[in-house]
Amino acid sequence: MTATAVPDFAKRLDQTAEDTEALLARLLADAALPDEIVRPKRLMDAMRYSSLGGGKRLRPFLVVESSAVFGVAREAALLAGAALECIHCYSLIHDDLPAMDNSDLRRGRPTLHKKTDDATAILAGDGLLTLAFDIITRDEIHQDQTVRLLLTRALARASGIGGMVGGQMLDLAGEGRFGDREPVDVARLQQMKTGALLRFGCVAGAILGQSSRQEYQALDDYGRALGEAFQIADDLLDVEGDAAALGKQTGQDAALGKTTFVTQLGIDGAKQRVRDLLGRADSALSMFGARGDVLRAAARFVADRKN
Ligand code: IPE
Ligand code: IPE
Ligand code: MG
Ligand code: MG
Ligand code: MG
Repeated sequence: MTATAVPDFAKRLDQTAEDTEALLARLLADAALPDEIVRPKRLMDAMRYSSLGGGKRLRPFLVVESSAVFGVAREAALLAGAALECIHCYSLIHDDLPAMDNSDLRRGRPTLHKKTDDATAILAGDGLLTLAFDIITRDEIHQDQTVRLLLTRALARASGIGGMVGGQMLDLAGEGRFGDREPVDVARLQQMKTGALLRFGCVAGAILGQSSRQEYQALDDYGRALGEAFQIADDLLDVEGDAAALGKQTGQDAALGKTTFVTQLGIDGAKQRVRDLLGRADSALSMFGARGDVLRAAARFVADRKN
């Protein structure tokens, strides 16, 4: 199965990006919500700077397309996707801070701490993290509050200690910055720092669609394979990619002494691993037949991307 099997793939991705942009703009409006006191202008400007007007919006796309497999209403999926994108944007803001990867460029623009200051960037990240949980618990996500609870818990676990945040800690420890450089389990590190949020995007549809256990497991397997392929592609782009197309600096991983699949397997070995993971993603979807075509194409997109 190739992306050409879904001729309107690019259009679908663009449409979800456009809808997510409009939704995030509404969610990040200046007006305070009931029970909020005031939304400080500087904070809102910073949050909007880092969440609007850029990004592939791949995570919302996965939520929307995994939801489409089960006929979940697009509006609900977009809302869940927007919550996930808020977590992703917060993770990027903090990832770029001087105390972490110290990056100057993101999505083709100065990183938030460069544009403003570290404190504003930290708070904008905190604001996006908490907003995500405001969004994911809203009534419009699903009429059954047990489904909302399950989705919220899944998002918390993907984002937190045993997911993205924990993975970021392993990533920094892997540089050797906290003392002795311990052996790094790259697969686990990447599964946590990047894979967990992408995997959440893939199982979100199964949770919203109240799927069978087997269907959930299939999307879980797919999401794990796609998540790992995504981060290996990111590591390859850091070595071989074009900074202008990427909208971020290249050569950062080597400069920081990061351990990645590229340092462990070499470029060819890393590319082979991506191909193997694509095969795993494809076979995970077999039970869905043609209903899995867009997700199959999404895995190819992740592997072949140039930005
Ligand atoms: C970049 O993610 C950070 C990683 C997890 C490797 P994306 O490549 O999805 O970034 P945007 O959202 O498109 O900018
Ligand atoms: C970032 O990984 C992962 C998260 C933000 C959680 P990277 O540090 O490799 O991402 P880039 O290369 O800066 O986008
Ligand atoms: Mg990083
Ligand atoms: Mg980084
Ligand atoms: Mg990277």
